[in-house]
Amino acid sequence: MNYKKFFSDELVSLKSQGLYRKFRAINRNKSSFPKATERFEGKEREVEVWCSNDYLNLSQHPEVTKTSIEVINELGTGSGGTRNISGTSTYHVDLERLLADLHRKESALLFPSAYTANQSTLWTLCKNMEGIEVFSDELNHASLIQGIKNADVETHIFRHNDTEHLEELLNTANANTPKLIVFESLYSMEGLRSPLQKIIDIAKKYNALTYLDEVHSVGLYGPEGRGITAEKGLEDEIDIINGTLSKSYGQMGGYVAANADIIDYIRSFAPGFIFTSSMNPSIAAASITSIKIAMSSEDLRENIRTNSDRIRAGLRELQIPFLENDSHIIPIHLYDPRLCKEAANLLLEKHGIYIQPIFYPTVPKGDERFRVTITPRHEASDIDHFLDALDDVWKQMDLRRSDSAEEEKSPVSRIY
Ligand SMILES: Cc1ncc(COP(=O)(O)O)c(C=O)c1O
Repeated sequence: MNYKKFFSDELVSLKSQGLYRKFRAINRNKSSFPKATERFEGKEREVEVWCSNDYLNLSQHPEVTKTSIEVINELGTGSGGTRNISGTSTYHVDLERLLADLHRKESALLFPSAYTANQSTLWTLCKNMEGIEVFSDELNHASLIQGIKNADVETHIFRHNDTEHLEELLNTANANTPKLIVFESLYSMEGLRSPLQKIIDIAKKYNALTYLDEVHSVGLYGPEGRGITAEKGLEDEIDIINGTLSKSYGQMGGYVAANADIIDYIRSFAPGFIFTSSMNPSIAAASITSIKIAMSSEDLRENIRTNSDRIRAGLRELQIPFLENDSHIIPIHLYDPRLCKEAANLLLEKHGIYIQPIFYPTVPKGDERFRVTITPRHEASDIDHFLDALDDVWKQMDLRRSDSAEEEKSPVSRIY
C-alpha cells in the first residue's frame, strides 16, 4: 500500500466536500469574557465567543481558579498514576461523593472525560452481559455510539425521541435477554429534551436498564442544577447517569453515577477506568468548588434562561430560522457546510463574532448549523451586537429567512 497517498487522498477528498476542520486558536480572557484573543496568521485580534460550553463561565470564577492554584501548590500538577496505583487523592474521593449526592445515587465514578465514561461504561456492560440487546436513540452522542459499537452486540436504533418506535423495537426482542436503553436528557446539537418519563415507563415494562447522558443538563437544569432527571424527580428511576465536569462546571473529566454495585462493577471491570491515569487533583478540587457554586447559583441559571429567550426573540424578529426549543442551545441551520463556513468567516472578519460552524461528523451531512450558546457574562448589548451581525451576514449572503421558527426536521440518522 502507498501509505503517503492514502492519507493525502483522504484529506483531499475531505477538503473537496467542504468538511475539513480548521482550529481557531482562542484565548478566552478571564477579565473580559466573552471577549477573547484570537491568534490568526501571526496576528492577534479581539473576538467575542458565542459557542462556548463553559456554560456558567465557572472555569474563570475566582474561587474556582484559587482552589486549583492552591492544590497545585500543595500537591503538584499530575495525579501520579491510575486510580488503583497511587492516583487516588482525597480530592478524587470527595468529588465522587459529591457527584453521587448531586444525583441522589449511592456512588459515582470519575473518568478522564465524559467521552471515556460513556464509551468505557457502555462497552463494559455490553461486552459482559451475555445476549444483551441495546436500544439507542438515533441522535446519541459519538461516545455512546462508540461504546456500543465497539462491543459488537445486537443494537436497535430508535428514531429520535420516538417512544412508539422504541417500543416497536423492544417488542421484536427476545423477552429473556438483558436490555439496555441508551439516551440523552438534552440532545447536544438540537437542545431538545427526551421524553424521560415515557422512556422510563417503557424500560420498566420490558425490564430494561436505562443509561442516560446528562452532559448538557447538569449544572443548568433542575434544583441546584442537578440535571433534568432531578427536575422531574426521576433520579431513582434511571439506572446509570452520565455527566461531565467540562461544560457547566468548567473543568475537565466525566463520571457515571448509579447504585453502589453498578459503580463497583464498572470500577472493577472497565478498561477505560482502570488503565488510565486519574485526573489531576487540582481539577478534582476545582470541580468540587465549581459544583458547590453552581448548586447555590440559581441566578446564573435564571440569567441563561433570560438571555436564551432574548436571543430567540431577536431571531424571530429578524426571521432568521432556528430550531425552537426551551434550552440554552440555539441551533441555526444553514444546511450546507460551505455556506456555514462562509457565514462563520464573515461573522468573524467583519464583526469579530466567533461561532464555530458545525458539520459532519458532529451532525449528519446536510444538517450543518451554528450552535449558539450563551453564558451569564454575555450582556444584553453583546446579544444585540450578535443579532445585528447575524442580520448583516444574512443580508450580505442572501440567506434564507422564515416567518416562523423552523419546524423540527426529521433528523438524518447518525453513522453507526
Ligand atoms: C452528549 C455528550 N456526551 C458526552 C460528551 C463528552 O464530554 P466530555 O467533553 O466530558 O468528554 C459530549 C461532548 O460534547 C456530549 O455532547
